[in-house]
Amino acid sequence: MASMDSVITEHESKKLRHTLGRFATGVAVVTTSSGGNQPSGLTINSFSSVSLDPPLILWSLSLNSARRDIFESAEYFAINILAGDQLDLCQHFSSTIPDLFSDIAWQPSPNGQPILDGVAASLECRTWNLVEGGDHIIILGEVLAHHHNDKAPLIFAKGQLTSL
Ligand SMILES: Cc1cc2nc3c(=O)[nH]c(=O)nc-3n(C[C@H](O)[C@H](O)[C@H](O)COP(=O)(O)O)c2cc1C
Repeated sequence: MASMDSVITEHESKKLRHTLGRFATGVAVVTTSSGGNQPSGLTINSFSSVSLDPPLILWSLSLNSARRDIFESAEYFAINILAGDQLDLCQHFSSTIPDLFSDIAWQPSPNGQPILDGVAASLECRTWNLVEGGDHIIILGEVLAHHHNDKAPLIFAKGQLTSL
């Protein structure tokens, strides 16, 4: 196992991203307005299910993210699983524009977390644990409520976005 202070070259990092990109994932926007803060969110593909009993999910957040403090201190957050026709939301929430929610349609979940209109599924979560993971922090969430519909999900593979 590589030591935590190992430094891989840019070439190795790119090759690893290409290898990992052969594993197709969905795309989600994780959102929070926990603690009465302004809504915040970012596009992720690191979402994964963990446990059914208790119901747990995880996602990982870059330590370099400007949104790190917000999500590390959030008691609640929501996972919005994007539908195949929501490529624009994927791009929007991966940008660094200041007011991400000004032109976005969303409704609050029962405890106030932003659920984006038109998503294929959503999960409202309470932060369960934070675990160090190299240059990311792994955020585990306990699922409090969840919804889905029949829309096809957005898929990310080989660096490309497609609909199923
Ligand atoms: C398809 C896709 C998947 C992404 N997955 C993640 C992720 O799992 N974790 C993460 O921290 N950033 C992820 N990002 C990057 C963030 O969406 C965003 O670009 C970044 O947080 C912006 O920088 P900032 O947080 O410093 O403002 C992803 C971006 C895209 C387009």
